[in-house]
Amino acid sequence: DGPEVRTPTGAATDLPGGTVAQQGAYLTTAQGARLPDTDHSLKAGPRGPVLLQDHHLREKITHFDHERIPERVVHARGAAAHGEFVANGAAASVTKAAFLQAGARTRTFVRFSTVLGSRGSLDTARDTRGFATKFYTHEGVYDLVGNNIPVFFIQDAIKFPDIIHAGKPHPDREIPQAQSAHDTFWDFVSLHTEAQAHAMWNMSDRALPRSYRMMQGFGVHTFRLENEAGETVLAKIHWRPRLGTHSLTWEEAQLAGGKDPDFHRRDLADAIESGALPEWDLALQVFPDTPEETFEGIDLLDPTKFVPEELAPLQVVGTMTLTSNPSNFFAETEQVAFHPGHLVPGIDVTNDPLLQGRLFSYLDTQISRLGGPNFAQIPINRPHADVNDMLRDGMHQTAVHRGVAPYHPNSLDGGCPFLAGADLGGFVEVPAAVAESVKERTKPASFDDHFSQATLFYRSLTPIEQRHVIEAYSFELGKCYEQAIKERQLAALANIDEDLCAQVAEALGLPAPAPTVDIADVEPSPALRQVGETWPVS
Ligand code: HEM
Repeated sequence: DGPEVRTPTGAATDLPGGTVAQQGAYLTTAQGARLPDTDHSLKAGPRGPVLLQDHHLREKITHFDHERIPERVVHARGAAAHGEFVANGAAASVTKAAFLQAGARTRTFVRFSTVLGSRGSLDTARDTRGFATKFYTHEGVYDLVGNNIPVFFIQDAIKFPDIIHAGKPHPDREIPQAQSAHDTFWDFVSLHTEAQAHAMWNMSDRALPRSYRMMQGFGVHTFRLENEAGETVLAKIHWRPRLGTHSLTWEEAQLAGGKDPDFHRRDLADAIESGALPEWDLALQVFPDTPEETFEGIDLLDPTKFVPEELAPLQVVGTMTLTSNPSNFFAETEQVAFHPGHLVPGIDVTNDPLLQGRLFSYLDTQISRLGGPNFAQIPINRPHADVNDMLRDGMHQTAVHRGVAPYHPNSLDGGCPFLAGADLGGFVEVPAAVAESVKERTKPASFDDHFSQATLFYRSLTPIEQRHVIEAYSFELGKCYEQAIKERQLAALANIDEDLCAQVAEALGLPAPAPTVDIADVEPSPALRQVGETWPVS
């Protein structure tokens, strides 16, 4: 009669018959009554009418009528797989996270996705890809909810509805599903130039991955890591595919998408089924945790900025292998719920204003997407750690909670001995100074640089990759109806690279504008190239 403990296998111990459905020698109703027939409704005579009395008919059709749940508001289209992560111990000096200590093996579930298309859209659209990983650690679930592009469109979560409304299909015609080929997207990114760096990545081959197995993943934000001694560093987190980073050309993407809209999900499932198990190294870029939270002049709290590997090399801290496909798409791929706030001791968030907003958004949206507050009980979301949360009741509650005192402190259910606390291995937020306490809707001056990283990325590419970028801007802007939008985007390109701007302008039949800011004088980062790139396979 002690405090309620939900076991890793959860409801199987709580409910008679467990959670496994569709078993047994007979077809039954949902209540377990045997069915003599499920092919004919109950009728008045062989020609009807059908009788309202037919409970089985009504139960079967009613359940079917409610089979669909809302698709994700973003990242609706995805494919997923189960895997295992093995740590090599290299992270032990910077984080106490148990799953990153030498030799630790942790089960994972990874969902790859496009961002803007609906659940039934094609895989090969030009778009950012989601790369979300759930680590079922014994300290609780850790979610790394990243993308295949290291920068983001906006610097503050309050603008997320704006960029997504601009990128989703036009409200009147519901076309197109690719993010880039329409006026609203280019209207937003040309008016809101902090989006230019991410837009540049979207015009590059990175937005057309060859396979989910050949994509990098990025945590995007800077996180704060803490080791056993209480020392902290700032870090960016990367996935590096062992197969190398490869893309389709635009022509290949269009052909593949037309012939097989499931191109990427088929590739992932087939590869795993055939034993060609995809692998990624997890790597850290580590920076000193200084009060300024900058590195080499780059504001680490600005999610539109990345740090070139030449300035901060990647340190591999472990490897993930995807080992099996989901056995039920809905139960696993559709119902999985990631959240950047699912953290374990040793990994904490920073004040990046985009990350701070995400900490609110995911739980909020999942309450509506998954029908109430109990979706952590869905098998794919259950922690592989004991859960003793004192949360009770609510829609879709499946646990049968024991005990009579779901509150703390209590003297009835064994006094609830499992208190949280640092000395008990609990998650304790790293104390961090709050620099300024004036309440204002503002941002740091360092967030005003909107172009230098787009320049850096573009100049790092090989000539063939640059040609693809020029062709992508020309094609996508060529689809805009409004000339003023094309001209405004050309004005942004002029601040990124004059030759790029001139070539796109020529393709559009428009004059190339002059820069309005000094174009950044940057060292290219060869690590950003894809052509000919392979990571060593150990
Ligand atoms: C879903 C990544 C920014 C709101 C997702 C998913 C990924 C992702 C990978 C799909 C998860 C899955 O497979 O189920 C990112 C990254 C971001 C970012 C890397 C920026 C660095 C934001 C922001 C917001 C937001 C700023 C809102 C303020 C959402 C929502 C979902 C989602 C509502 C749907 C979640 C669900 O229905 O389960 N994001 N996102 N994201 N994201 Fe983000």
